[in-house]
Amino acid sequence: YGTIGIIGAMQEEIELLLAKLEERLTENHAGIIYHRGVFQGKKVVLTRSGVGKVNAAVCTQVLIDRFCADVILFTGVAGAVDPRLNIGDIVISTSSLQHDVDVTALGFARGTIPYQEVSEYPADEALIALAEEAGRKVFPDRCHRGKVLSGDQFVADRAVVKGLYDEFGGACTEMEGASVAQVCFMNGIPHVVIRSMSDKADGSAHVNFAEFTVEAANRSYAIIEEMVKAL
Ligand code: ADE
Repeated sequence: YGTIGIIGAMQEEIELLLAKLEERLTENHAGIIYHRGVFQGKKVVLTRSGVGKVNAAVCTQVLIDRFCADVILFTGVAGAVDPRLNIGDIVISTSSLQHDVDVTALGFARGTIPYQEVSEYPADEALIALAEEAGRKVFPDRCHRGKVLSGDQFVADRAVVKGLYDEFGGACTEMEGASVAQVCFMNGIPHVVIRSMSDKADGSAHVNFAEFTVEAANRSYAIIEEMVKAL
């Protein structure tokens, strides 16, 4: 790859890598800050998109257009949706979809964007394999493949999280992955989302989130670091 784009939504999610980026140059586009640099001898652009699907979409398109990113990695935390997942476990996206898209009134299934080729955006097979390999080294037995569910909402309700699992069979929920995936799909750029579980998206989510977010963000980052070595 020529340039690796790495996105996190929050400062905690990019901090460790930011400290390791060599020859750093910083640019601002549409209010989002991009750090170009070299990491493990590779050209990297690291950015904090901000929270939510619109921020993540704008950020991804800028990475592709202005920084010529030809591969996009997303690192961060998520709420576990699959009841078998525990806080600290890692999800490597196989695909992602926007669970808050609702055109059911016109007969479309929840999560389906009308008149589009697909609504569930696949992650790149080679990147998934690389992430799994990195996961085996860094956190053996804690990495799982799964579907990422994105929406502009922080899920913190037992019934809502159960509904997401029953309806979509997702592994985790967060607020950016599927919009990054959609923009990558539209541009023909490979991507994968790596998320470490900070909470279980139930009633205790806000408490868990505050407590575990730094630790979870660092776990996701550890996978990214190992992956970049191999890219
Ligand atoms: N990111 C981390 N936990 C989350 C949750 N419960 N819902 C949405 N995004 C999250």
